[in-house]
Amino acid sequence: MIKDKLEQKLKEIKSVALKVIEEASSSEELYQVKVRFFGKQGEFTALMKQLGQFSKEERPQVGQLINQEKKALEEVYQVRFDLLQTSELNAKLEKESLDLTLPGPKLSQGSQHPIQFVMNEIVDILSRMGFSVRSGPLIESDWYNFEALNIPQNHPARDMQDTFYVNDEYVLRTHTSPIQIRTLENEEPPLRILAPGSVFRCDSDVTHSPNFYQIEGLLVDKKVSLADLKGTISFFVKEFLGDQIKTRFRPSYFPFTEPSAEVDCSCPICKGEGCRVCSHTGWIEIGGSGLVNPKVFEYTGLVKDEDPHKWQGYAFGFGIERMAMIKYGLNDIRMFNENDLRFLSQFNR
Ligand code: DAH
Repeated sequence: MIKDKLEQKLKEIKSVALKVIEEASSSEELYQVKVRFFGKQGEFTALMKQLGQFSKEERPQVGQLINQEKKALEEVYQVRFDLLQTSELNAKLEKESLDLTLPGPKLSQGSQHPIQFVMNEIVDILSRMGFSVRSGPLIESDWYNFEALNIPQNHPARDMQDTFYVNDEYVLRTHTSPIQIRTLENEEPPLRILAPGSVFRCDSDVTHSPNFYQIEGLLVDKKVSLADLKGTISFFVKEFLGDQIKTRFRPSYFPFTEPSAEVDCSCPICKGEGCRVCSHTGWIEIGGSGLVNPKVFEYTGLVKDEDPHKWQGYAFGFGIERMAMIKYGLNDIRMFNENDLRFLSQFNR
């Protein structure tokens, strides 16, 4: 190829390019010019590929010429591109004017989970009577979950609780009662403690969940009677469910209390008349209780043989889901774990 011909070709490219740059009506359209002329498959690249046809002496000169023209055109392109983009942006801003007085997106506020909500309320009531909160591990040794609570191996009471075993020695705690033992081992009476927390049992239906919550209470002092226990629980029930709610104690058996009693409250749904919730009895069970079995004091080293009556105590344990279901008239324990916001958000404070 001779130089004149190349110059002619460059001229042609330049005039075509200037024309299309001028005529492009949008930045998008203009971008096609960039591809067509300056891209890898573009016209300038094609010209560069022809450099081989020139003599060694001519080549640098011709190469420089092509580059100069390319650069000049690119500048024209860029000016036009910026211009188009600015006017497009302005048009867009004009069209999409922003109304700052419009209300913003609604941010929904989270709420406490009903279990936490009810638990806090229960702790709150009992705290006002001088009880304070303790906690313990979810994985308990056989000693804390059973032995020290006077539930020895092969004792039929172990069958009352369907235990998840971690291994031969450890279990997922089946109740919050082990915290009674931990407290008695570590603290000096007199004491009044509460232990709210998660517990586990291999059991699942509309009223049983494999993971549920309990709250344990323990009071130890020099002179403690069933009347103290009954007074405390009756007061608590009235505070939690309402003044008109009655409490009843039914003789029962727990290895760690003697005597033991199951606690019922009059049904707040039918006011004791009898309904579906209370199985037409007018009463609903809320938990267990009793006077601390002296054996528990022995196991925890609190009382030695020479002075078996030095300390006395009462204990109780309630199911949190159960209390929540009674208070709000719910009939399916699984609702607590379904994460349905329509249900959960009703407990908003
Ligand atoms: N730990 C018992 C259970 O889960 C409930 C219970 C009964 C706790 C009597 C107590 C008590 O503190 O005195 O079935």
